[in-house]
Amino acid sequence: MSLTRVAILGATGYTGAELLRLLLQHPHVRVTEIVGQSKAGQKIGAVLPGLAGIVSGDVATYDAARIAKSADVAFACLPHGASGKIVAELHGLGMPVLDLSADFRLRDPKVHAEWYGHDDAPELRAKAAYGLPELFRDAIRSSALVAVPGCFPTASTLPLAPLFEAGVIEDAPLVIDAKSGVSGAGRVPGERTHFAETTEGFRAYKTGGSHRHTPEIEQTLARVSGREVRVSFVPHLVPMTRGILASAYVRPKAGIDAARATELARAKYEGSPSVHVLEPGACPDTLWVRGSNRAHVSYTLDPRTGWLLCQGAIDNLVKGASGQAVQCFNLLRGYDEGTGLGGAAMWP
Ligand SMILES: NC(=O)c1ccc[n+]([C@@H]2O[C@H](COP(=O)([O-])OP(=O)(O)OC[C@H]3O[C@@H](n4cnc5c(N)ncnc54)[C@H](OP(=O)(O)O)[C@@H]3O)[C@@H](O)[C@H]2O)c1
Repeated sequence: MSLTRVAILGATGYTGAELLRLLLQHPHVRVTEIVGQSKAGQKIGAVLPGLAGIVSGDVATYDAARIAKSADVAFACLPHGASGKIVAELHGLGMPVLDLSADFRLRDPKVHAEWYGHDDAPELRAKAAYGLPELFRDAIRSSALVAVPGCFPTASTLPLAPLFEAGVIEDAPLVIDAKSGVSGAGRVPGERTHFAETTEGFRAYKTGGSHRHTPEIEQTLARVSGREVRVSFVPHLVPMTRGILASAYVRPKAGIDAARATELARAKYEGSPSVHVLEPGACPDTLWVRGSNRAHVSYTLDPRTGWLLCQGAIDNLVKGASGQAVQCFNLLRGYDEGTGLGGAAMWP
């Protein structure tokens, strides 16, 4: 089998570096373009010290015509807003693109404009497949543009989708309380991610329904259930580097308990190389999936109040970003979905 030549745009950031780490071990890939922006021209081993002695050469500048010749597929690991134009340009040159930004995730242009305030390639929006393989495998296989989901939406949607799809959740707003490690904010340091202001503390942010991942979660749950869904989403920043734990609180219909929810999820995710449904009542831990493309899902019923707790734990940089992108790439190229992603978590 011939190798697929891959370009990584935004290779100097956290998701780009993680993608490079994964693709260097992929048996069907040759990475031909390692592209940055402000760090272009610098030695790869200096910018990404974990790759010193493994990858030589300099970080390249972006040049669409060159990339379209030297690579078969591009991964865009760029900030939203910057990604849309670049993805459209490469797509226009006939390249399949996997976009890790939010620029093509929301299908409705009005909803996208409301939450992001810009739309650089509206004509492409309708063509993008939403890259959550466990739910939209067939669409990903046949799409030349994959919008890889956000990290919070991945951790939140995986435990909820089987229940919404089966119609076993009451038609009422639900609460998702999610916690992320600091690498979720990317490599550029800021006051919010400064060591002294994150370690030994723990806080919510973007409360009041203002986090941009809210409409993405609502969109997926609406697609699988066929009805409108309202989510109250509350993200938190926790002092760890990697990991997301999403805890969703829903009202199950009569007769639905943790055991039945577990059965539904196991049926839905049978054969997935990534999603593992824990025993009813188990509490997933980000440490059990750290550094891997695994997602742990679980269900617990509180019989006193009737709330069903649905939890998902992932590594935000792997199943929440670059690993999921590789999973989509495998589908797109006709490789086994789990190729290059078999690693267990770095535990403890
Ligand atoms: N971090 C996560 O856990 C996570 C999870 C899921 C999705 N995402 C999404 O993935 C994308 C990348 O996130 P990240 O965390 O990897 O960000 P990051 O660490 O800040 O990296 C951003 C990358 O984009 C490049 N870049 C910045 N501005 C650019 C521009 N205007 N034009 C072209 N390139 C530009 C940077 O190049 P230089 O360094 O050379 O300047 C860098 O390589 C974002 O859209 C993010 O929302 C992130």
